[in-house]
Order: sequence, then structure tokens, then C-alpha cells
Amino acid sequence: MGLHHHDEVVLLLGAPGAGKGTQARFLADTLGIPHVASGELLREHRAMGTDLGVLAQEYMDRGDLVPDAVVVDMIADRLDEPDAEHGALLDGFPRTLAQAEALERRLADRGGEVRTAIYVEVPTDVLIERLAGRWMCRVCQTAYHEVFNRPTVAGVCGACGGELYQRPDDKREVVSNRVAVYLRDTHPVVERYARAGVLKRVDGNQSIEAVKDALLEAVGQDAAIPA
Ligand code: AP5
Ligand code: MG
Ligand code: ZN
Repeated sequence: MGLHHHDEVVLLLGAPGAGKGTQARFLADTLGIPHVASGELLREHRAMGTDLGVLAQEYMDRGDLVPDAVVVDMIADRLDEPDAEHGALLDGFPRTLAQAEALERRLADRGGEVRTAIYVEVPTDVLIERLAGRWMCRVCQTAYHEVFNRPTVAGVCGACGGELYQRPDDKREVVSNRVAVYLRDTHPVVERYARAGVLKRVDGNQSIEAVKDALLEAVGQDAAIPA
């Protein structure tokens, strides 16, 4: 691990189903930094059957948060990889004030900081409708929706050919707990970055294309003007 300087991270904050994963890959590519998603990393651990994956399973299936210490270490290890040397787009982390403080300490040690925190805002009833119709690729974790973002071939990922499935935590009863946990534990993180003056609010309740353009504007890379 080399000593990194000027690590700059961009945070993508928003409730479950707000569209973080849908937008993150494209946004990360635009910014030239890797997309680091805590939920995706945890699902990879589960699929591989690691100790971390086994520990995380019961929390995830209930829609509760995995303990801070475990998630903080997992993200720190990921940010130590060479592709994250100059920063990363974080999706799903930090999710508690303790995680936010741990991240900020780590960045400060390296002369870096949270450059921008983007908050994708979506009303609760829309979140529930999105999660109920979501289908996710087992292989690359691209998200589809049976109404709003249909795969070209039913049941098959257009990006990699993988099989689509419905996440066990997208069951209605689990979704309501995830939303409650979000309001209790994660909304304070949004408020923290608003107070710090780095929060950019984006209306997530519009088409996927319109949200994409709003995100580009939020990070200062305006959408290309069609020729
Ligand atoms: P995680 O995987 O992070 O789930 P989440 O935050 O609940 O968010 P989602 O992935 O459900 O939503 P998204 O915003 O990515 O929406 P998407 O783009 O898919 O976390 C899962 C679990 O892991 C947690 O519950 C917890 O247990 C654990 N965990 C993770 N991070 C943790 C942490 N830091 N600390 C502790 N525990 C942690 O879109 C949703 C649907 O809507 C899709 O079907 C999509 O096609 C559709 N859609 C997207 N945009 C639009 C649009 N504009 N219009 C119409 N439909 C749209
Ligand atoms: Mg996601
Ligand atoms: Zn795929």
C-alpha cells in the first residue's frame, strides 16, 4: 500500500431504491474513478461464502445494517487497492455517522476529503414500487426493472448475459425495515454533509436519463449537447 495523497471521494447517498446503483457505474466512468458499493461487496462475500459474508447474511436478510466495524474495514481494504489511489465513487457507504467519521479520518490521514456528497431524493412510495419490480444480475449486479428498465431479453442481463433474480431483501416486509433504518441511521449522514456545505441534491424521481443529466451537472460535467 503506497501513501496516497489528495484522495478525493464522491459519495452517492440516497434511500434504498433511489437509483444509486443504476447511475453509479456511468458516473464513476465519467469521473475516472472506481465505483465502490458496500452492498455489492457484501453480496460478493456472501456468494463466495467468506466469514464476512456469513456474518453479514442475517443482517442483510432482515434489512438491518451490518455492524460498522466490519463494513468500515471492508471499505478501507477496497480503497487501498491501486485503482482507488486517486479516489472513488462510494455507493451505500457511509450509512451511519460512525462510518462517516471513520471515512473522514482515513481521508484526512492522506490529505484528502469528501469532495462532494450527492443526495438522490425519491419519495417513499416510489422507492417501494421500484424495489418490488427490481431484477438484478447474479453476475455483475446490474439492476433492471420489470416496468421502468426492462432487459432486452426477459431474465437475462444485457450487460453480461448473467441470470436475473429478485433480491431476497426486496420483499415488502424487509423493504419497510430498510426504509425505516435509512431514515433513522442514514438520514443524519445526509444532514452532516449538508451542514459541511458539500451536499448536492438531485431529484431522483424522474426518468433514468434525466437523473443522469442532473448528476452530471451536480459533479460539474454537464451533459453533452447533442450535435
Ligand atoms: P445496498 O445494496 O446498498 O442496498 P440499498 O442501499 O438498500 O440500495 P439499493 O441497492 O436497494 O438501491 P439503489 O439506490 O442502488 O437502487 P437501484 O439503482 O438498484 O445494501 C443492501 C444491504 O447491505 C443493506 O440493507 C445492509 O444490510 C447491507 N449494507 C450495505 N452497505 C452497508 C453499510 N455501509 N453499512 C452497513 N450495512 C450495509 O434502483 C432500484 C430499482 O429502481 C431498479 O429496479 C432500477 O431499475 C429502478 N430505477 C432506478 N432509477 C430509476 C428511475 N429514475 N426511474 C424508474 N426506475 C428506476
Ligand atoms: Mg444499490
Ligand atoms: Zn450482468
